[in-house]
Amino acid sequence: MTLTDARPTSTPRSDDANWWRQAAVYQIYPRSFADANGDGIGDLAGIISRVPYLATLGIDAVWLSPFYPSELADGGYDVADYRDVDPRIGTLAEFDEMVTALHAEGIKVVIDVVPNHSSDQHAWFQAALAAGRGSAERERYIFREGTGPDGSEPPTDWQSIFGGPAWTQVEDGQWYLHLFASEQPDFNWSNPEVRADFLHTLRFWSDRGVDGFRIDVAHALTKDLTDPLPSRAELDAIPRGDGQHPIWDRDEVHEIYAEWRQVFDAYDPPRTAVAEAWVERHRRPRYASADGLGQAFEFDLLTQEFDAAAFREVVTDSLALAAESGSSSTWVLSNHDVVRHATRYGLPPLSATAGSTEQDRKQGADWLLAGAPEAELDRERGLARARAASLFELALPGSAYLYQGEELGLHEVGDIPEAARQDPTFFRNPGVDIGRDGCRVPLPWERSGSSFGFGPGKAHLPQPDWFGASSAAAQDGVAGSTLELYRRALQLRRALQTQETLAWIETSRQDVLAFERPGGWVTVTNFGSEPWVLPAELAACELLVASSDLEGHAVPAEATVWLRRRAA
Ligand code: NOJ
Ligand code: CA
Repeated sequence: MTLTDARPTSTPRSDDANWWRQAAVYQIYPRSFADANGDGIGDLAGIISRVPYLATLGIDAVWLSPFYPSELADGGYDVADYRDVDPRIGTLAEFDEMVTALHAEGIKVVIDVVPNHSSDQHAWFQAALAAGRGSAERERYIFREGTGPDGSEPPTDWQSIFGGPAWTQVEDGQWYLHLFASEQPDFNWSNPEVRADFLHTLRFWSDRGVDGFRIDVAHALTKDLTDPLPSRAELDAIPRGDGQHPIWDRDEVHEIYAEWRQVFDAYDPPRTAVAEAWVERHRRPRYASADGLGQAFEFDLLTQEFDAAAFREVVTDSLALAAESGSSSTWVLSNHDVVRHATRYGLPPLSATAGSTEQDRKQGADWLLAGAPEAELDRERGLARARAASLFELALPGSAYLYQGEELGLHEVGDIPEAARQDPTFFRNPGVDIGRDGCRVPLPWERSGSSFGFGPGKAHLPQPDWFGASSAAAQDGVAGSTLELYRRALQLRRALQTQETLAWIETSRQDVLAFERPGGWVTVTNFGSEPWVLPAELAACELLVASSDLEGHAVPAEATVWLRRRAA
């Protein structure tokens, strides 16, 4: 046995400053969670009505994707007002009510902060357009003159992450930078007004009782845009790992987070933050450090195939990285940007898919936006593997970020008609990407009825017929259902988790992983296609939960079990 990361910490669930270290955090995509008033869009009243469900599920916190006023050019990640609620989603009073209802169940509330860019409908951007070139208003964003004899060419040939040009021209001829959609102008973080405004926003929500923040594109805020700007090819050739890239992961971004940390630490318990930072591995601990955001998403598990060696390597590396920063590790298998893991694991390996290079996969880029070819999908196998992977994930030391619907074992919805699609990545890459709508389809709560119980009206994205069988109602109380598997695992996890340590147990097979946590809590995952007969030492353990029923003393193919050693 090898012992990894032997740093003792306090247990989660106490109302102390460390509640986040091993929390199970459930991501709510508000527009698609529950719709109380039947306009087709999920809302805060819908979330409030489902607090009992969340409490029974056994999560420690929810993370809400943006609910702010927005034109929805990017599902709400185009924020028009950082300190309000979109009227289609609710009111500030309802927000307070939701926080109170969740807190009453011991569930913390994490919200999304989107600091790299605002919506083009934000009052500041509208003021920048009106004020014209050279104005203080334009200095809050990144405006430049065009190139070519009459300035009709963009400042550079840079591409946006969502495809298409990264610059858009405004009426008076200037251009503004948007790393994402053209409706998402990038802020100028050299401007003290921008910095002050975000401090205001963080205090605003912290004062309302929000417990933590998820920071969108945390690695892009500060930029070095000194003229002459590099071309796209030159930009792409600049290394990203030394803090000097003109756009990504610059060292000085941490000055911002050090300031934020002072705000967080002024509250009791201190507010938490988790960085969404797609940076080179060795750069991640800075985002996760105690004088910075405190935690950073670990996406490396999410970008792996269902493979024992790959999973083990990621776990070992991630625990070491987390120890380096003094943070706990984070685990993610699904979120609102990626194909649901039940579907990924039911598709042919990505390496066998045309057009996906190892490099793409490492960076997550193509892979995130690839969509799911329905015809090649083995649904049953994908779900079995997803259940095994989730049980593996929930046994790891650190916090687990779950995405709404994964507890129902939902698959990606692959067949959304073009006319119903909403994601800008679909519109900006015609014929290439189908976008991320397939994991954002409103949840099925009931077997049938209007929008499968999502609300009294139609859902804002079409739901497939198979949603009824996957609904919460169809799984509630049903032994062996994915919902009951998650409930059992989350409940056990609370009781079992103590120190953030893990010791690998060597098994007789390369495709079987086993590890032990303090208290004799043993997890075995069989990634292979043949059952694995437990050795006598493990066969003597108490069986706690299994993603597929054991066959005598054998862990079936593509399954995870949790065991507990019996007291001597
Ligand atoms: C990351 C978010 O998770 C994604 O949904 C969004 O489109 C981009 N950041 C831009 O805000
Ligand atoms: Ca609604």
